Amino acid sequence: EKGGYDYFMLKEIAEQPKAVADTLLGRIDASGSLTLDELRLPDSELREIDKVVIVACGTAYHAGMIAKYAIEHWTRMPCETELASEFRYRDPILDTRTLVIAVSQSGETMDTLMALRHAREQGAKVLAICNTNGSTIPRESDAVLYTHAGPEVAVASTKAFLTQLVACYLVALYLGQVRGTKWGDEVGAVIRELSEIGTQVEEVLTTMEPVRELARGLAGKNTVLFLGRHVGFPVALEGALKLKELAYMHAEGFAAGELKHGPIALIEDDVPVVVVVPSPRGRSVLHDKIVSNIQEIRARGARTIVIAERGDEAVRPYADHLIEVPHTPTLLQPLVATVPLQVFACELATARGNEVDQPRNLAKSVTVE
Ligand code: M6R
Repeated sequence: EKGGYDYFMLKEIAEQPKAVADTLLGRIDASGSLTLDELRLPDSELREIDKVVIVACGTAYHAGMIAKYAIEHWTRMPCETELASEFRYRDPILDTRTLVIAVSQSGETMDTLMALRHAREQGAKVLAICNTNGSTIPRESDAVLYTHAGPEVAVASTKAFLTQLVACYLVALYLGQVRGTKWGDEVGAVIRELSEIGTQVEEVLTTMEPVRELARGLAGKNTVLFLGRHVGFPVALEGALKLKELAYMHAEGFAAGELKHGPIALIEDDVPVVVVVPSPRGRSVLHDKIVSNIQEIRARGARTIVIAERGDEAVRPYADHLIEVPHTPTLLQPLVATVPLQVFACELATARGNEVDQPRNLAKSVTVE
């Protein structure tokens, strides 16, 4: 049932191009507009919304962090992303014009369920982004957009994450489309780019041998740090989470702009630092700032492992290891940049002799608070 792979995780990583395509399927009409009738929330209600709050845990929370950038950009509505386990205990400000989005692969995560119940009690509308048909979270929500990743067996979430991202982008674009924001025109172009993503993920998967080799070489290390900026920051957090879960290593993700506010003190000789670099063709300020971060940490002895767009020559001189990914618009880059980090963590776990599909102390679905 592992389809010839040693682990479910490897199979699920390989299934990502199809999973991403499946999540888009049937949601774009012939004219290139989005049709999300299945949401069950009428457009008139979506036009009334004045704030979005995303609640989720773990990897789904990282998808939600990325969604915040997309929603604010395409809808110009304020959006907050919060850990479901923190949300209801701080008495959040919600009303009937708040859209709460609960993101969950299993649909059974208790923290997320309790957060959505709290939101509904306050009168907010709840939209679930979920991978499991008929599970509790979508059943208790006002609306649902299913991700079509197929069953995910490995405890470490991979294809569910990519499809959560696609679903979040669809919701962000749809809200932009329905509300007629000035970015409305961008929707068609972004949808075309999204339709290419499956092929691009496929392409990334064919270039992973050097990543595996690099991971094997780091099996004796104690710490790996991850840096990113903008949507690259949640990608860094996700890379670190995968490594903790699977390799049982100390791994931490930072916002690159925070480096000099503390984390740079951790940089010492040969500490591996993975840096996610945004496209130089997108917001070039972000790109240039992160390139100087890479120079700074390298000057202090870090071993730099750089994930950058193919053809980004500015970064090459400072990368001890360069992992190239195809060009995507800045907001969509997590879809290609996360894949090498999944492969990296999986290979490090194997090299350290760990059980990949069933990491110690973890359950696939956390049904207690
Ligand atoms: O089923 P959910 O998406 O609600 O699960 C949320 C987290 O428990 C989950 O993403 C967890 O962090 C994964 N093991 C990460 O790989």
